[in-house]
Amino acid sequence: MSSIKTAFVGLGVMGFPMAGHLAAAGHSVRVYNRTSSRAREWLARFGDVAGATDMAATPREAAGSAEVVFLCVGNDDDVRSVVYGDSGVLAGMSAGSVLVDHTTASADLARELESACAAKGVGFLDAPVSGGQAGAENGQLTIMVGGSSQTFQIAEPVMACYAKSVRRLGDAGAGQLTKMVNQICIAGVLQGLAEALHFAEQAGLDIADVVDVISKGAAQSWQMENRYKTMAAGDFEFGFAVNWMRKDLDITLRTGRTLSARLPLTALVDQFYADVQAYGGGRWDTSSLIERLRRT
Ligand SMILES: NC(=O)c1ccc[n+]([C@@H]2O[C@H](COP(=O)([O-])OP(=O)(O)OC[C@H]3O[C@@H](n4cnc5c(N)ncnc54)[C@H](OP(=O)(O)O)[C@@H]3O)[C@@H](O)[C@H]2O)c1
Repeated sequence: MSSIKTAFVGLGVMGFPMAGHLAAAGHSVRVYNRTSSRAREWLARFGDVAGATDMAATPREAAGSAEVVFLCVGNDDDVRSVVYGDSGVLAGMSAGSVLVDHTTASADLARELESACAAKGVGFLDAPVSGGQAGAENGQLTIMVGGSSQTFQIAEPVMACYAKSVRRLGDAGAGQLTKMVNQICIAGVLQGLAEALHFAEQAGLDIADVVDVISKGAAQSWQMENRYKTMAAGDFEFGFAVNWMRKDLDITLRTGRTLSARLPLTALVDQFYADVQAYGGGRWDTSSLIERLRRT
């Protein structure tokens, strides 16, 4: 596609490489990060690639001339703090432009933002991602999108530069609801895998041999393939942090209550993650559930 003017707010583990892919695809990218040293680091890394890049002092300034503005911050309140107010992106955006939120947040926030954007003639998409740091760095994310099909058609080809799959699942909030489904699956699978590997250890089996055999059958999972070695080694200083997972499960469990969807296993695993936080493992990868079994 032809090059367009974009802005990217939130250069964390995910946003930093995602904004880099936009620049590499030839789009102009104006970045904003609350901690400005991180934005300078981004410019030093991506300032020379094809797209024109610079940094802004506020989210509003970053969004000023952008056709598509991307956000990837922490939680609902973090999103509100970069969207609303005199220095928020919405104050700088013009009618016809599009705001895409890649933060994992609530579906209620997505609906709220769609209305706030519509009042200014701005399109909105909730577009949480899956694939982790590696997916962001390799441009291989899965993006789950909610919003109007008209707005999706504008932003989809731009998001494609850091995704292996970009899919619209319904109106505003549908992307966040789909991400909740994803997190429910991950919580249950990881606790099952943690118990399985813990059982194998206690039985004196060779973990690599066991996984080599069972990963060719019905027990196979992404988590098994990609996490069994580090789980066996007790290495959790990487990956998707327990603190983020608890934020996601809190949103999911609250949403489940409003939908009368029963999530007993998800609620239990959420409490297991609270135990991991109590060991000081808030920044450990979510596969650290096995550590709780070893300690209790
Ligand atoms: N990491 C993963 O594997 C992964 C996978 C899928 C989805 N996600 C989701 O993607 C989002 C970002 O995750 P991440 O791992 O990139 O997080 P991160 O590394 O902690 O980065 C968070 C970014 O948001 C900014 N930020 C947070 N609160 C802010 C506020 N109130 N005002 C302005 N800026 C604010 C931070 O700025 P500072 O630099 O100033 O702190 C930083 O740039 C989260 O919603 C997370 O759940 C993460």
